Amino acid sequence: MSTESRTAQLTIGNKVIDLPIHSPTLGPDVVDIGKLYGQADIFTYDPGFTSTASCESTITFIDGDKGELLYRGYPIEQLASESHFLEVCYLLLFGELPNEAQMTDFESRVTNHTMVHEQMHNFFRGFRRDSHPMATMVGVVGAMSAFYHDSTDVNDPWQREVAAIRLIAKLPTIAAMAYKYSIGQPFVYPKNSLDYPSNFLRMCFAVPAEEYEVNPILSKAMDRIMMLHADHEQNASTSTVRLAGSSGANPFACIAAGIACLWGPAHGGANQACLEMLREIGTVDRIPEYIARAKDKDDPFRLMGFGHRVYKNFDPRAKVMKESADEVLELMGIHNNPTLQVAKELERIALEDDYFISKKLYPNVDFYSGIILDAMGFPTAMFTPIFALSRTVGWIAQWKEMIADKNQKIGRPRQLYVGEAHRDYVPVPNR
Ligand code: CMC
Repeated sequence: MSTESRTAQLTIGNKVIDLPIHSPTLGPDVVDIGKLYGQADIFTYDPGFTSTASCESTITFIDGDKGELLYRGYPIEQLASESHFLEVCYLLLFGELPNEAQMTDFESRVTNHTMVHEQMHNFFRGFRRDSHPMATMVGVVGAMSAFYHDSTDVNDPWQREVAAIRLIAKLPTIAAMAYKYSIGQPFVYPKNSLDYPSNFLRMCFAVPAEEYEVNPILSKAMDRIMMLHADHEQNASTSTVRLAGSSGANPFACIAAGIACLWGPAHGGANQACLEMLREIGTVDRIPEYIARAKDKDDPFRLMGFGHRVYKNFDPRAKVMKESADEVLELMGIHNNPTLQVAKELERIALEDDYFISKKLYPNVDFYSGIILDAMGFPTAMFTPIFALSRTVGWIAQWKEMIADKNQKIGRPRQLYVGEAHRDYVPVPNR
């Protein structure tokens, strides 16, 4: 970040306040209001952080107008076609692409942490069988701090590193266990001779009574889904992780907070909500009814999988995801599936509709990911857990960056209080 001599002037009454302007490597300039309260006894107000940068970061950059997503400067399209998830994890965590020795070492460290503490199996068994896997994951990931005491000291860089590796390695195991538990099947232990996505697919779909062979096309598609979801700068769940971490909370608690935030249908829960919406629409002839509802100001219904706070042209992740969807559906021989027909027609109609064009609402990553995951055999309830396990590396990279930031302070927003002013307590008989 460079602080130029340029400043912005804010005039309040007859007082003029100079506010420094920072120039980022990419993206709009940022006016620094950090000292505003001290100088002028005034707060700024920005619900939803639509104009507020909450931190300095070197990890991910999004240009919403161009539809560009960069991890450490590398375009997502290049990474999705030439890299693989664990390499992307290394890049996000350490800032550079690994050389061969670094990659081998990192892969081996992640692979050697895939099993969870055996006592955790009992912890799982405390949940109802019909628990949503996200509910189970919030609980189990939060509970990791009760199982891995030796990596909870946030002031020790080594412990932070071990926690990062543990989280990346164990999240697929935990997500798969949440799934197996919900369908009443035995947990499948990880098999460390498999690559990361194949291992996850096997833990979800294998049963002890039968051999299971991972299809390489499905494994590649899963790897891509993971790469596309790996990080997305200061989105709601990442900001939640940072805010939780700003108090010094341990990494497992912070990631559990991120999972809880991700679950909402406006964020990661949109992939489940989108497929459920496509199924509810059911047939192509009902699409106009749903388009009309999405446009109706008095109806809270929204087209799930459409729109994005930052992307106002297209979501580059959706473009790559659509290609993967074609490959997976071809492999699975799915051509005339009614949900797919509804999805294709809905996309066509919405992209030609004035309402969606004028509000810059395009299909986002969640529009296609559910279609792929459904074709792979995942139930809708597993869509958001897959997003969560993929985003874990982004959360932990952002958390590590925050802890190492010398300007880091506990996150403590102020408010615009509009409640009652002072009043006197009234005893019950007089109310
Ligand atoms: N369907 C219909 N209208 C919409 C939609 C939609 N999906 N999204 C936004 N709008 C309208 C909204 O009603 C508003 O209209 P008006 O200006 O007349 O009040 C306008 O577009 C702007 O919407 P907003 O809610 O102010 O925009 P936002 O930036 O706060 O919200 C969003 C972004 C992603 C939450 C929203 O587009 C949405 O709810 N989409 C559906 C859920 C979804 O697909 N979420 C996944 C996002 S991508 C993955 C992730 O981040 O996890």
